[in-house]
This record gives sequence, C-alpha cells and structure tokens, in this order.
Amino acid sequence: MAAKVTGYSRAQVALHWIVLVLVAFQFLAHDGIEKAWRGFRSGQPTPTDAAVLTNMHIGAGTLVLMLALLRIYLRLTRGAPPPPADEPRLLQLAAEAVHLLIYALLIALPLSGAVAWFAGVAASAKVHEWLTNALLGAIAVHIGGALFQHFVRRSDVLMRMLSPQRD
Ligand code: HEM
Ligand code: HEM
Repeated sequence: MAAKVTGYSRAQVALHWIVLVLVAFQFLAHDGIEKAWRGFRSGQPTPTDAAVLTNMHIGAGTLVLMLALLRIYLRLTRGAPPPPADEPRLLQLAAEAVHLLIYALLIALPLSGAVAWFAGVAASAKVHEWLTNALLGAIAVHIGGALFQHFVRRSDVLMRMLSPQRD
C-alpha cells in the first residue's frame, strides 16, 4: 500500500524528465534503425553510417524500459500526490487513464522493437510503428492536460512535476 504523499520525490521528478529526453531522442533520431531494418529485410548488412544511430536507438529504448519499470515501482511503493481536491472526477480519471496508457506504451514499445530486431519478426516492427503513433497521441493529450491544469485551472499540478517534495 503506497504511503500518502503531497508531492513527487526528487527521483520521480528526475526520472520523468530523463525519460522525456530519451523518448524525444527516439522520435528525432530513428533514421538509422529504419535504414538498418530495411537493409535487414532485404538481406543486406547494416550500413556503417546507420550502425551508431541503430545502437543508440536500441540502447536508449532499453534504458526507457528499465526506467519505466523503476518509475512504476516507485509509484507503487512511494505513491503519487492526489489530484487537486476540486478537480472533477472525470478529469481525474482521464489523467489517470493517460498515465496508465503511457506506462503501458513505455513497456510495450521496447518489447515490440526488441522482438522485431532480435527475432526478425516483421509484424512486431509494424506493431512498434503503430505504438509510436499511440505514444505521440498520448503525450500530446498529456501535455495539453498539464498546460490546461496550469493556465486554465491554475492548479499546482505542473509545478509539482518541476519542484520535488522534500522528504
Ligand atoms: C520507448 C522506446 C522506443 C521508442 C519511443 C521507439 C521509437 C521508434 C520510432 C519513432 C521508430 C520509427 C517508426 C516509423 O517507421 O515511423 C522506430 C523504429 C524502430 N525501432 Fe524503435 N523505439 C523504441 C525502442 C526500441 C527498441 C528497444 C528496439 C530494439 C531492440 C527498437 C527497434 C526498432 C526497429 C527495428 C525500428 C524500425 C521499424 C520499421 O522501420 O518498421 N525500438 N522506433
Ligand atoms: C513538456 C512535456 C511534459 C509535461 C509538461 C509533463 C507534465 C507532467 C505533470 C505536471 C505530471 C504530474 C501529473 C500529476 O501529478 O497529476 C506528469 C506526470 C506524468 N508524466 Fe508527464 N509531462 C511531459 C511529458 C511527458 C512525457 C514525454 C512522458 C512519457 C514519455 C510523460 C509521462 C508521465 C507519466 C507516466 C506521469 C504520471 C506520473 C505518476 O504519477 O506516476 N510526461 N507529467
């Protein structure tokens, strides 16, 4: 049972923003692995100019998986601050659902990528591609929600992911 807390810990805040940087890298620098994947599918070796970016994609993706598991562990053991008391129940549920979806995608993405890459399963690469779009959509809604909380509802939700609780 998670303890009652009023803010995110230093580790939770740091992990949130580190994962953001890693995920942004995955979306901005996937050319290498796409080239390598196309080469693999047509029986060609990975082109040398794509090898570094390919390894970085696999490395950063694996790191995202490990950090997502660590975040879920912290979430379950330490807990997360409750939503603002005056927040409509529907908004609370929507925010929780989007967080849950993002966590699920941060696990499913590296796994589908690994099955495609290490076992050569083309269908898994397709799933990986669909999941990248789902993650982009979820992140867009998530950022919209954070900005809505800050500028429209004027709650402390955005600030608590910027300044950790002292504990
Ligand atoms: C959270 C982690 C990850 C994210 C956000 C991510 C994101 C992406 C993106 C945006 C693409 C380009 C998709 C497109 O064609 O539009 C891609 C392609 C690919 N990724 Fe990942 N990736 C992650 C983890 C991994 C891991 C760990 C592996 C392998 C061990 C991997 C293997 C691949 C492969 C093989 C492709 C090429 C698939 C294709 O072109 O159809 N990915 N990834
Ligand atoms: C500019 C971009 C982003 C902003 C402004 C932002 C803001 C926030 C804020 C304010 C919270 C706290 C919500 C609350 O306490 O109810 C939060 C939580 C969360 N964010 Fe983000 N976020 C951003 C990007 C991302 C990205 C890229 C990801 C994932 C790849 C992500 C995943 C999460 C998750 C899973 C939580 C739930 C944390 C928990 O309670 O376990 N966020 N975010």
